Amino acid sequence: MFIKSPIKDFQLARFPTNHDASLRAWDAADELVLSWLEEHSPEQPPALILNDSFGAIALGSGGLISISDSKLSAMATELNARKNDVNCPQLLDALTPLPKTEGPIIIKIPKSMELLAYQLRKLRAQLADGQVIVGAAMVKHLPKRALELFEQIIGPTTTSLAKKKARLLFSHLDSSLSASSLPQSAFSYQEREYQSHANVFSSKSIDIGTRFLLQHLPHLPERGQIADLGCGNGIIGVECALRAPESDIHFFDESSMAIDSARYNWDHLVGSSRVAQFNWVDTFGSTPANHFDLVINNPPFHQGQVIGDFLAWNMFTASLRCLKVHGQLVIVGNRHLNYHGKLKKLFGNCETIASNAKFVILRATKLR
Ligand SMILES: C[S@@+](CC[C@H](N)C(=O)[O-])C[C@H]1O[C@@H](n2cnc3c(N)ncnc32)[C@H](O)[C@@H]1O
Repeated sequence: MFIKSPIKDFQLARFPTNHDASLRAWDAADELVLSWLEEHSPEQPPALILNDSFGAIALGSGGLISISDSKLSAMATELNARKNDVNCPQLLDALTPLPKTEGPIIIKIPKSMELLAYQLRKLRAQLADGQVIVGAAMVKHLPKRALELFEQIIGPTTTSLAKKKARLLFSHLDSSLSASSLPQSAFSYQEREYQSHANVFSSKSIDIGTRFLLQHLPHLPERGQIADLGCGNGIIGVECALRAPESDIHFFDESSMAIDSARYNWDHLVGSSRVAQFNWVDTFGSTPANHFDLVINNPPFHQGQVIGDFLAWNMFTASLRCLKVHGQLVIVGNRHLNYHGKLKKLFGNCETIASNAKFVILRATKLR
């Protein structure tokens, strides 16, 4: 499928690719921002682009720096640049300090308003007088709160007319507003305080599925390799580390904010003198096969606004590859998602460790 852009027509793919082929890798908000750039900034490509899902805005406009919390988005942008034989923008994670820039800044409005607030505060600190921030979103994904945040953090903000159910916001700096400090959320579990950056799953309270999983953790290997796959703020890996003081713990997440939160919680709750591995990657990245004794996972059920079990399936498949023979995958999931059937298909076995009205905890063993 092709998207028209000021540079050329691009063939763009989503990443990961192995699910519903009818889903496009861009939306009408991406198209609207590309045509705005063509009309209003033809000579100057955008300096910074934030939260571009699969590279449509960055590649379509020749943007210089693309910032995303998501490793999947960064990988999609790289793959799509290669596929279309164009330069890939510099790719930065969500926590890297922003450079001072000239020219328009484009921000695709994220699902998390905490992430939007975090990003606007960071942008404000390096924004030049007269520099415009252009927000882009589908109207159905543009809450009133987003406009309020632009006005409270940046300054006067106007909106475009809607086109194909998408809308742009234009925000200019009001230097008299005071920029407050960056947000961080926290909650307590077993008298331990878990901190999370803005975009991290269940940052203000422990997820009820995670709580149920921690109540029914299986026997942990004493001197084993344990993976917390899709670690969020790292609560599962940290709790395992405290129960298995001689095991090695490996954290994996595609969110840079999640990985940084897990590292922070590890340092404060386990101690930085105990070594652990922190990986900002898609599933297990380049981890070799047959590596772990135990993988623990509370699988994701959406990528951005798209809900589905394709990410969980990828995680189960990657776990089968990375587990040692006799190694185990333990997951918690909503009862109705039928993870039992998926694990049975992949591993040839699956047992229920615990269940309640809402969740099941399942274990699958790699047999060969
Ligand atoms: C349901 S949350 C669980 C978070 C944490 N383990 C907890 O229990 O609070 C799923 C996590 O998987 C991460 N994730 C989603 N897709 C991923 C992928 N392809 N590779 C690695 N992590 C991913 C998300 O960023 C999120 O942190």
